[in-house]
Amino acid sequence: MLGTKVFSLMAVLTVVSVSPVTIAAPSGNPESGRKIYLESCQSCHGPTGKGDSDMALYLTPPPSDLSAKPTQAKTDAELRTIILQGRPGTAMASFYGAFEEAQLNDLITYIRSIKS
Ligand code: HEC
Repeated sequence: MLGTKVFSLMAVLTVVSVSPVTIAAPSGNPESGRKIYLESCQSCHGPTGKGDSDMALYLTPPPSDLSAKPTQAKTDAELRTIILQGRPGTAMASFYGAFEEAQLNDLITYIRSIKS
């Protein structure tokens, strides 16, 4: 009886201590995100996400370095909004309707993986 109680308590403690990590870690698949990135984003943001594409020479403002602090400091929700809405007045177009929810999640997970 006591054994069962101790066991349940341990189970609860395990869940409680693991959940914040689960929430903080990106939940998508970075490998699938990378494929989407290479198809849809690298022409401007460059092969490594640092804004170092050939296209960048012709764009004002230039494509952001996605590995840099201004982007990495944004929340996942903020990145999602930028990808879906684009930035009017810049080359950053709206990708609204282009991706499934899971693909968006993979894409954001990939962006998180390229921080400098
Ligand atoms: C046609 C060129 C082009 C393509 C393709 C493109 N972007 Fe952009 N992106 C830009 C430009 C230019 C900016 C900078 C806008 C500015 O300075 O306000 C930008 C800005 C961003 C930002 C905001 C960064 C910040 O911190 O302010 C994010 C995030 C982003 N792009 C993600 C993506 C993703 C993900 C894709 C692919 C799905 C993509 N972009 C495709 C040109 C592009």
